[in-house]
Amino acid sequence: MSAAALLAHPAPQATFMEDALQGLKQSPPSLPSKYFYDEVGSRLFDQICDLDEYYLTRTETAIMQDHAGAMAACIGPATRLIEYGSGSSVKTRTLLDHLAAPLGYVPVDISAEHLLQTSEQLSQEYPELHIQPIATDFTQPFSVPALDGPPERRCIYFPGSTIGNFTPQAGRELLDNMAYCAGDQAGLLIGIDLQKDPTVLEAAYNDAAGVTAAFNKNLLHRIKHELAGDVSVDQFEHSAFYNDRHGRIEMHLVSRCPQTISLQGHSFPFNAGDTIRTEYSHKYTLDGFTATAKQCGWHCQQVWTDVNDYFAVMYFEH
Ligand code: AVJ
Repeated sequence: MSAAALLAHPAPQATFMEDALQGLKQSPPSLPSKYFYDEVGSRLFDQICDLDEYYLTRTETAIMQDHAGAMAACIGPATRLIEYGSGSSVKTRTLLDHLAAPLGYVPVDISAEHLLQTSEQLSQEYPELHIQPIATDFTQPFSVPALDGPPERRCIYFPGSTIGNFTPQAGRELLDNMAYCAGDQAGLLIGIDLQKDPTVLEAAYNDAAGVTAAFNKNLLHRIKHELAGDVSVDQFEHSAFYNDRHGRIEMHLVSRCPQTISLQGHSFPFNAGDTIRTEYSHKYTLDGFTATAKQCGWHCQQVWTDVNDYFAVMYFEH
């Protein structure tokens, strides 16, 4: 189905319960990583971004600071910026400071409370900026209502290498949906985590302070408390490793012993060592991501990286 058709008839969004049951039924079992981001999870993620081992945020922020002027020039004046997975909008501020007469800013995030707090804060910092937050799961097609006036130019901002959390297939669907959402002459500014020494990658997802482990286990806490699931959270262990064949970090929750998760009348047995996969984080090459985006009609215009080539911010047009 084309993105246009999907938008005209959006599928009803699955609930956390439905997605959890469906994921646990699979073999091997998995849970969608988007459910990390409740209030607690969003705070934990902000803490991850400050960790020494987690080079991603620091590196991307530095790239933004060094090149925000050039990025704003690519995006152009009088453009509406739509951010997917805005979280705390930290990197966005650097961009907003350089944009010429932006038509508005549309932060989109699954965590409604976090989104509203951030939007209120931003509207104080940028009193001139038209801010229209949208609390939705951007993995499902959605539309941004047009502003009154002439047809607007839109640029999607998708930082953080969040595209890496999607399978290649789902990533292409998202890039298609973005093209549809952004309309004619659209821009896309996207952060991409690059392939590198697996030791560096694995350290970033196995921090010494255990914040990533807590972030991972938060999924089980949510199943226990929000879905009234019977699960022994402490009997699962955090695991993250680089899968070389697929060029991705995988996060799992590993069962420490034989046990059963019960959820809404369903039982899911685990042997010691069985895992629930909770996240993929794909790492790309510049050429690889450029080719993927091109399949979705996005043409690479410019690329900015750090000195180590750890991370890239790429600008595309459709
Ligand atoms: C949401 C893509 C920025 O995959 O690195 C951080 C989420 N998971 N630590 C990533 C995450 C574990 C993250 N991004």
